[in-house]
Amino acid sequence: MQLIPGLDYFEEHKSLFLNGNMLKPRIRRFSELLKVLRYPDKLNKDGAAYYMFRDLPPIRDSWARFDVTVIPRWEIGGELAKTKGHYHNSPKGEPSYPEIYQVHKGRALYLLQKPGKGYSNIIDFVAVQAESGDIVVIPPGYGHVTVNIGEDSLVMSNIIYREVRSNYKPFEELRGAAYHYTFSGFLRNEEYLQVPRIRFEKPWRRSKPIVLEFVRDDSSFSWLKYPREACKMGFLGVTCDEEK
Ligand SMILES: [Fe+2]
Repeated sequence: MQLIPGLDYFEEHKSLFLNGNMLKPRIRRFSELLKVLRYPDKLNKDGAAYYMFRDLPPIRDSWARFDVTVIPRWEIGGELAKTKGHYHNSPKGEPSYPEIYQVHKGRALYLLQKPGKGYSNIIDFVAVQAESGDIVVIPPGYGHVTVNIGEDSLVMSNIIYREVRSNYKPFEELRGAAYHYTFSGFLRNEEYLQVPRIRFEKPWRRSKPIVLEFVRDDSSFSWLKYPREACKMGFLGVTCDEEK
């Protein structure tokens, strides 16, 4: 299937082709997920848990990065396939950088969490289900995990300010997000001290690839560079003014 003109995904090999040439992904192995799994003892395989294709055209020369992630369907002890989870860094005196996701194929569950005093005190937890075309913005100040809740591979892309760095450590130290998603639904992660009830939100529906909107007018995405600006947009009801 075509993600955007020139960029094609092939399910058979879980691979991306750029103008007919196969791209080499960065592979996240199961062994690297060990610390974030609900049931690490149930892990009895290694190999690729998911594939990351970083810094793709058509915005390679811009201030933002366009990445594609492919998460095959798998489960470990009943917990569904997911990314490792991370927080973004922040510019001085501001909340952390936001990010924008779009699903291209399959069904995703985005889990977003905002820490209060320390990473084990979560003051807001948001779950967003998304399918092909849907857009989900990670608001400033939120860590995030993506779960593949579909029957097949999940293919999604993200656009993020190029200078953003990811911090995986809090998720490693607390065994993943504040809730795990399993065949039995959401299960609270007991490693956290404070966990609120889940707030369910909806994605934005879009039929076209959002990266093409970026190509046309990157200025309408400047909030990716300026978290304060993103706060004013109120993505997922987040305005950033609540006290930490
Ligand atoms: Fe991120």
